[in-house]
Amino acid sequence: MEKLTPSDVSKELVGKELTVYGVVLHIRDLGAKKFIILTDGGNNLQVVYEGEEKVRRGDSLKVKGILCEDQRAPNGIELRANDLEVLSKTLEEIFDQWTLRKMSKDKKIKYRQLVLRLPEYFRIFETYARVAQLFREFFIKKGYLEVFTPKIVIMGTESGSEVFSILYFDKEAYLAQSPQLYKQMILASGVKGVFEIASYYRSEISFTPRHLTEFRSVDAEISYIEDYNEVMDVLEEAVRYVSKHFGANVDQIPRITFEEAQRIIKEKSPEAYRWDDISTEGERILGEYAKEEYNTDFIFVTEYPSYSRAFYYMRFDEDPKRTKSFDLIFRGLEIASGGQREHRYEKLINQVKEKGINPERLKYYLEAFKYGIPPHGGFGLGLDRFVKQLLNLEDIRECVLWPRDPDTLIP
Ligand code: AMO
Repeated sequence: MEKLTPSDVSKELVGKELTVYGVVLHIRDLGAKKFIILTDGGNNLQVVYEGEEKVRRGDSLKVKGILCEDQRAPNGIELRANDLEVLSKTLEEIFDQWTLRKMSKDKKIKYRQLVLRLPEYFRIFETYARVAQLFREFFIKKGYLEVFTPKIVIMGTESGSEVFSILYFDKEAYLAQSPQLYKQMILASGVKGVFEIASYYRSEISFTPRHLTEFRSVDAEISYIEDYNEVMDVLEEAVRYVSKHFGANVDQIPRITFEEAQRIIKEKSPEAYRWDDISTEGERILGEYAKEEYNTDFIFVTEYPSYSRAFYYMRFDEDPKRTKSFDLIFRGLEIASGGQREHRYEKLINQVKEKGINPERLKYYLEAFKYGIPPHGGFGLGLDRFVKQLLNLEDIRECVLWPRDPDTLIP
């Protein structure tokens, strides 16, 4: 039989005898009667108990009783217990619900498992899980293959960010920064598309509300594209599919070039302008611009200069200084990057060399191109960043169970 926890108990079950499991969030002891708030993280249930058993905050309970309607109870229902069993005893009663709520952001991470007893925090992680599930559902419906690529690799793939090295027996290896090379190589099979949702690692000493050293990304790579706009179309469709489930409409996402974006930023705030890249403040300005001009939360910036993009991006044949690439900005924060890839072997080799990489190191990857691969493109979307923006959280750490940053390795 399925075990019931508070989330399974609703008004429809009033009058029934139920056995419910949960953890004690709070007790009000009136001597003869105890009012116990039982939780499963997602939801609470008030239990009224008049027996002898000693109950403490943090205990795991199995409670049998009749579900009754009571307007004074938190959800208008309470379980009047006639049998209560403590399945696991707490050794020490710690923080009550109010103390948990008032904790600093750092302390909420330290005591994550306790904070998760509060439905308003549990909900963040339910949303996170739902978002991942919806992305997965979207790609499966499209007929893309879900893949699982190695996270122990022999080189970094993303220019501009550092790798974590590890000792792999007697060799130096690295933690993957992205699934980039592998997600491309699989397309040599002829499959129409692949996707992966996994964790990646970047040794960036950044203390910002949007950087982690371990983050999760939703990656897709798509075959037979005619140009990079097709990749943006898929990303736009994916974001629309996911957002719809949270009541947010995503209309057509405007697409502006890097050059236009730079002009807009310079005009609005000369201090935010950087000749070579879009600063954090620049992204914020573009978010504002999207809202004002198009009344949308999203905007694509396209055609980044080739000096700022990795070797695998395709460049315009008529203007190799520009790449067929894009970033997606959501409420003023970059959440995804992508573009068309260079699939022409000779050109790819040249780009590899130009970026100062010895093609020998990329032999395994380049071979995929030598022996044939469809034209393709793809993107990587930061899952943590997406959820942060979706829920309007101040800091990416708020939606990551146990975040990793340069200062945090425990818990
Ligand atoms: P990029 O390096 O832009 O592109 O990364 C893609 C997306 O991943 C997220 N992200 C991060 N999130 C939190 N903390 C970090 N340190 C961090 N670094 C990246 C961001 C970013 O937009 N291979 C390409 C993608 C592609 O072309 O398919 C890549 O990795 O949301």
